[in-house]
Amino acid sequence: MSKIFQTKLAKTALAAAAGVGGTIVYLDFIRPPVVSDLNNSYKPLRKELATPPSRESLLNKLETTPKFDVIVVGGGATGTGTAVDAATRGLNVCLLEKSDFASGTSSKSTKMAHGGVRYLEKAIFQLSKAQLDLVIEALNERGNMLRTAPHLCSVLPIMIPVYKWWQVPYFFVGCKMYDWFAGHQNLRSSTVFSREMTSAIAPMMDDSNLKATCVYHDGTFNDARMNATLAITAIDQGATVLNYMEVKQLVKKDDKITGVLAVDRETGKEYNINATATVNATGPFADKLLEMDKDPQGLPPKIDQPPRMVVPSSGVHVVLPEYYCPRDMGLLDPSTSDGRVMFFLPWQGKVLAGTTDTPLKSVPENPIPTEEDIQDILQELQKYIVFPVNRTDVLSAWSGIRPLVRDPSTIPEDEQPGSGSTQGLVRSHFISQSPSGLLTISGGKWTTYREMAQETVDTLVKNYDFDGKNNALLPCQTNKIILAGGEDYSKNYSARLIHEYRIPLKLAKHLSHNYGSRASLILELYHQSDYNKLPITLAANKSFEPSEDKESEENILSYQSFDEPFTIAELKYSLKYEYARTPVDFLARRTRLAFLNAREALTAVDGVCAIMEHELKWDEETTKKMKFEANDYIGKMGISPKRFDVEDFIVQ
Ligand SMILES: Cc1cc2nc3c(=O)[nH]c(=O)nc-3n(C[C@H](O)[C@H](O)[C@H](O)COP(=O)(O)OP(=O)(O)OC[C@H]3O[C@@H](n4cnc5c(N)ncnc54)[C@H](O)[C@@H]3O)c2cc1C
Ligand SMILES: *[C@@H]1O[C@H](CO)[C@@H](O)[C@H](O)[C@H]1NC(C)=O
Ligand SMILES: *[C@@H]1O[C@H](CO)[C@@H](O)[C@H](O)[C@H]1NC(C)=O
Ligand SMILES: *[C@@H]1O[C@H](CO)[C@@H](O)[C@H](O)[C@H]1NC(C)=O
Ligand SMILES: *[C@@H]1O[C@H](CO)[C@@H](O)[C@H](O)[C@H]1NC(C)=O
Ligand SMILES: *[C@@H]1O[C@H](CO)[C@@H](O)[C@H](O)[C@H]1NC(C)=O
Ligand SMILES: *[C@@H]1O[C@H](CO)[C@@H](O)[C@H](O)[C@H]1NC(C)=O
Ligand SMILES: *[C@@H]1O[C@H](CO)[C@@H](O)[C@H](O)[C@H]1NC(C)=O
Repeated sequence: MSKIFQTKLAKTALAAAAGVGGTIVYLDFIRPPVVSDLNNSYKPLRKELATPPSRESLLNKLETTPKFDVIVVGGGATGTGTAVDAATRGLNVCLLEKSDFASGTSSKSTKMAHGGVRYLEKAIFQLSKAQLDLVIEALNERGNMLRTAPHLCSVLPIMIPVYKWWQVPYFFVGCKMYDWFAGHQNLRSSTVFSREMTSAIAPMMDDSNLKATCVYHDGTFNDARMNATLAITAIDQGATVLNYMEVKQLVKKDDKITGVLAVDRETGKEYNINATATVNATGPFADKLLEMDKDPQGLPPKIDQPPRMVVPSSGVHVVLPEYYCPRDMGLLDPSTSDGRVMFFLPWQGKVLAGTTDTPLKSVPENPIPTEEDIQDILQELQKYIVFPVNRTDVLSAWSGIRPLVRDPSTIPEDEQPGSGSTQGLVRSHFISQSPSGLLTISGGKWTTYREMAQETVDTLVKNYDFDGKNNALLPCQTNKIILAGGEDYSKNYSARLIHEYRIPLKLAKHLSHNYGSRASLILELYHQSDYNKLPITLAANKSFEPSEDKESEENILSYQSFDEPFTIAELKYSLKYEYARTPVDFLARRTRLAFLNAREALTAVDGVCAIMEHELKWDEETTKKMKFEANDYIGKMGISPKRFDVEDFIVQ
């Protein structure tokens, strides 16, 4: 093709794009706000809640239930979603998670409920219907998520910086198409901001080469809380959900799976659990389970096999103080100088930054971000920020394994294990049933967990005989089920908390955005004693423990004088209602303190252990072990570069 012809072609395409863009603007209309946002017909705040079944009674259920309908292995987004779906249809479900809910990938995502603008671009350029369907499905689910968990999800405008004039209509049309494909689930209309407007909104951004920004909307959410919420919702619906239960073996009879052998990681006790169907939702660890399935005894392979079906890739994220980004707007650059994607987004009052993933050879259990990874992100980030990016600003960092799935039937038998590239992998999910009856669901995105769960349970109902009750089961309910804490929630909830409990705004916002309409339960605890009002970092301070004769001044040392609004009341709540079993469960997943400010979380470890020791009746050795594990886990969240050389703190 000649160069002149190419330019001509580009110009024609540009003109066409501009035309389409204009038409879209013309056709666009202002959307009425979602009704639930405006619903202020308040129910009184909830003051009490029946204590959910204790761990002991759930364990007891494992022993006394002769046969469950379904066992779900893995308590990530997919597993907990499946448990909620199956339980609400009327199946007797048991979910087993070897560590904590969402301790795997599900707590380490980018926290976006999205269809993926990038995937849309790919879909259009490759004229791929499959890719496009994927985007549309995710956009649809994004809407469902915002509706069923209104307290954990919110709409986030995201800017795409544009550095060449011709790209302005290109990105704008792309964003508009994104709106269109969302159909009635669209959040808000995309727009274009001029360079001046951009720097007014985002003064921290380097706008020297900027021409304009295109703004589109996606959802942002709190991933690990979403998972815990799903687990609690499942228990509410009658499911038996247990964390710290590892599945060791699939029990087979005549080559058919009849249940699993699971071990309680706290006590070492083994449980033989029977079920009609077993679902494998172990995410990036799925390969291991498949090997267990191939083994006649259902045992795991002796040597670790490199992944075949799941091609893992790691994504590193860092958390920075809020001044790195406007309060209510994120930034995403879909094509950086070296062809990756860079984003930084406001999240929970901080800023989450990262780039796209790098492929891995094997699946580490708790992947750790290296100093190199962190420096890499900071260097990339510096290109967008006017002030010098400082290594000491990194509050926390983590690495998540993304399970990109390949259809096993398309993997050539002779392929070198682990050599699969992540290119061209469709980030969709698939469900497969092995001859022995194990149903494996893997891949997908957080955003599509509900749809994946629905498909999984549909398959279960179709392929398994639940003692003749298949026809009596309800159709899928998860579109209607509002998750725990989302009931009676409205956007004005923090104002109501302030009026009722006279608490500071920061605490009210934190609680309502994490616990929804259950926040008032924590505030009831908070008001029970001054001790409960202490910031979690002071939990170890014995001199503050409540005593009858001590006169306490109101709010003497309440959390207000500290950076983060996490209190002892919240810990007590998470022990009673959310099955927190270790300090890391609380510090990293029930609350996100370790993800938001790892240094602060480290100072809280001793105090949290002291309270948990008392409440969970740990012996000295357990406490010691827990303390070590928590310090180890949080200590690896990007806060202590290996060498404390000055150079390490300077980003070139
Ligand atoms: C860096 C990164 C960013 C991402 N960003 C987004 C995003 O912005 N938006 C989005 O929608 N999606 C995102 N994703 C994708 C999303 O996080 C994952 O697709 C999703 O969390 C996968 O959930 P899962 O349940 O399949 O796996 P997991 O969350 O890993 O859950 C599997 C669970 O199974 C348990 N398990 C394993 N073996 C056993 C056993 N033998 N017995 C008992 N339990 C067992 C594990 O402990 C684990 O908790 C991202 C992923 C990554 C890596
Ligand atoms: C599971 O089934 C086996 C064999 O049918 C039986 O011996 C065992 O008691 C069952 N387990 C439970 C918990 O009932
Ligand atoms: C999701 O929550 C359940 C229950 O709280 C827990 O067992 C599981 O580990 C969590 N999974 C993830 C990926 O956080
Ligand atoms: C379960 O699924 C995962 C992928 O999601 C796979 O790695 C694992 O091998 C499966 N386990 C079994 C026993 O099939
Ligand atoms: C508003 O909320 C109340 C109470 O939760 C509910 O009964 C009512 O149906 C809701 N109205 C709308 C329009 O959603
Ligand atoms: C929000 O809540 C406050 C406190 O209860 C109430 O006074 C106010 O009217 C509410 N706002 C709206 C828009 O309903
Ligand atoms: C405990 O509180 C007292 C009183 O404010 C303070 O002096 C002391 O430093 C605190 N100790 C710890 C370990 O925080
Ligand atoms: C980073 O911050 C630290 C402490 O705030 C400061 O001492 C150091 O000079 C800063 N480094 C750069 C490159 O600005």
